[in-house]
Amino acid sequence: MFQKLQQKWGVSHRQFWIIFIVFGLTGTTTAILTRYVTAWLGMDASSFWVWKLLVRLGMLVFGYQFILLGYGALLGQWAFFWKYEALLLRKLGFLSQQTMANRQSPTANHQHPKPKTQLAIFASGAGSNAQKIIEHFKNHPSVRVALVVCNKPGAGVLQIASENGIPYLLIEKERFFRGDTYLPVLKEYGINFIVLAGFLWKVPAALIEAYPQKILNIHPALLPKYGGKGMYGMHVHEAVIAAGEKQSGITIHYVNEHFDEGAPVFQAVCTIDEKDTPETLAQKIHLLEHAHFPIEIEKIVS
Ligand code: GAR
Repeated sequence: MFQKLQQKWGVSHRQFWIIFIVFGLTGTTTAILTRYVTAWLGMDASSFWVWKLLVRLGMLVFGYQFILLGYGALLGQWAFFWKYEALLLRKLGFLSQQTMANRQSPTANHQHPKPKTQLAIFASGAGSNAQKIIEHFKNHPSVRVALVVCNKPGAGVLQIASENGIPYLLIEKERFFRGDTYLPVLKEYGINFIVLAGFLWKVPAALIEAYPQKILNIHPALLPKYGGKGMYGMHVHEAVIAAGEKQSGITIHYVNEHFDEGAPVFQAVCTIDEKDTPETLAQKIHLLEHAHFPIEIEKIVS
């Protein structure tokens, strides 16, 4: 259950437990503060129940959110909690529907002349692959990671982008699937190659047409087996283990309009032992991905 939640939030193991602690501390602090506030307002058992309810609701709706952000910031998880708060505020109409969360001018991090390849990493999860790609191309003479594109507020990859000074674009489902609406932003950042590193939405046709043979995906299995809709992350490893496979691996492939069906460019294999579980297999696969994905991207773009 924890594993699934961690995957849904798109955070690392460590981050997951810190987030849990933040929730725990926030709940306890809100409960204690509510008691103080009601006492400060002179409320006791004889007070009209509606007033007490309103104070409690106020503390829950507003106090809780502030305290959550406070503890989140204290424990280094501001980005995770702020993304969710921003979403809430946007839904309540307190924030504009902007999509660029840390938008910098596309030229802001151009200390050097524009390199030949300007990469955008599309990712929705913890971002361990994005991290490796960013590290690999740091100070690279002709390739720069110029943008991270993410569909999940609070995903670990956003923190990774921030830590590395890379602008990120938070996209909305309806706009993304409308087709070409994000193209101007990608062009603005000079993006000429895209890699999907744990990005789970289907890429719309307009984007594929705008980047022909210039979008790569990594899949955590040996395609064509264990691919297609719904086959992502831990679901893939669970299916592989359940089928009693003796090996699995990774596939790097071009993206076309069908899930996981574009031309493969690279595969690497790992063996599955009897004692392997979906979790241990996921670790083996991640090791393979980290070792090969940045290198294969480099080979292709050059
Ligand atoms: C990776 O294992 C990648 O292969 C998988 O998501 C994980 C993301 O991990 N992608 C898919 O399942 C796509 N169908 P990360 O966020 O730590 O890089």
